Amino acid sequence: MNLSTVYMSLNLRNPIIVGSCGLTGTAEKVKACADAGAGAVVLKSIFEEQIESELGSMTNESNWYPEAADYINSYGMQNAVSNYLELLEKSRNSTEIPIIPSIHCFGKGNWMEFAKQLENAGASALELNTFILPSDPRRTGRENENTILDIVSDIKSQVSIPVAVKIGSYFSSISAFASELDGCGVDSIVLFNRFFRIDFDIENLEVVNGSMLSTPDETEDILRWVSMISPVTNCDIAATTGIHDGEAVVKQLLAGANAVQICSILYKNGLGVIAEMHGFIADWMRRHNYNSIEDFRERLSQRNSGNPAEFQRVQFMKASVKA
Ligand SMILES: Cc1cc2nc3c(=O)[nH]c(=O)nc-3n(C[C@H](O)[C@H](O)[C@H](O)COP(=O)(O)O)c2cc1C
Repeated sequence: MNLSTVYMSLNLRNPIIVGSCGLTGTAEKVKACADAGAGAVVLKSIFEEQIESELGSMTNESNWYPEAADYINSYGMQNAVSNYLELLEKSRNSTEIPIIPSIHCFGKGNWMEFAKQLENAGASALELNTFILPSDPRRTGRENENTILDIVSDIKSQVSIPVAVKIGSYFSSISAFASELDGCGVDSIVLFNRFFRIDFDIENLEVVNGSMLSTPDETEDILRWVSMISPVTNCDIAATTGIHDGEAVVKQLLAGANAVQICSILYKNGLGVIAEMHGFIADWMRRHNYNSIEDFRERLSQRNSGNPAEFQRVQFMKASVKA
């Protein structure tokens, strides 16, 4: 069965991408993902702060996000840039599948020059994890959106490889913002970044880490937005968060995704999940007489579903739950 697909003009042998996480943090692990059948790999992100620090241009540590400071304190800042370039080069040499480095960023700066270095080092594309949690009461949503659009426009003007933008879901009008990203020439939107979660320990009255790994029910929200955004933008879409089995992959493709990114389920059940997903998709395509992913991709997006209202508030009128 032909599972190949095109994502950001990259030919993928199948739509399952291992998303940016610890499983893509060394060349050996990247090779293991490729050997397990991944269509592409997004490398573990390098933080904007790491690049800035090495370039000697960032002096105000109070601007750092807490997790960046933790990461940097535990792993050290030195040689982050050269180590990351080495990770990219070694990964590229260990497999034929596309390798997509990722930059975790929240504002414009000198770090942006690094994008060109990644391109020169053979990156197939670049993913920007635009990590702006809209928590600052002095900043409007429009200001946060403009920051992302500025970053993306600048990066797009510096590199010729495709650029994906991974965004969170906290926008007042995600579809309008997706159109604006499209206007900046973004090649793919990754929906959605799963922000680091917090929880409370009510015995010790402490803030603790929330769940690091997703659960399958988290995918429903992604399905809605992929279905609604794919018709309103020319950007490709990679769906991520909560995709734990082949059925969830098929659903995202039907919604209009070009590819999916998975992490949590690989931590839980190992890399063998990728082959299981291939098996499910191939079997499902056979049962439905589809010869290629393009035969059914986007069949259930809001535009093509036959009942666009199904995606909106009217569904509550019909819904009934037995008490
Ligand atoms: C341990 C761990 C580390 C992660 N590190 C990164 C990262 O460096 N950059 C990034 O963009 N996303 C990172 N993510 C988020 C994943 O790429 C992905 O978007 C998220 O986990 C949702 O997908 P999933 O439900 O398949 O896990 C990380 C996730 C996990 C679990």
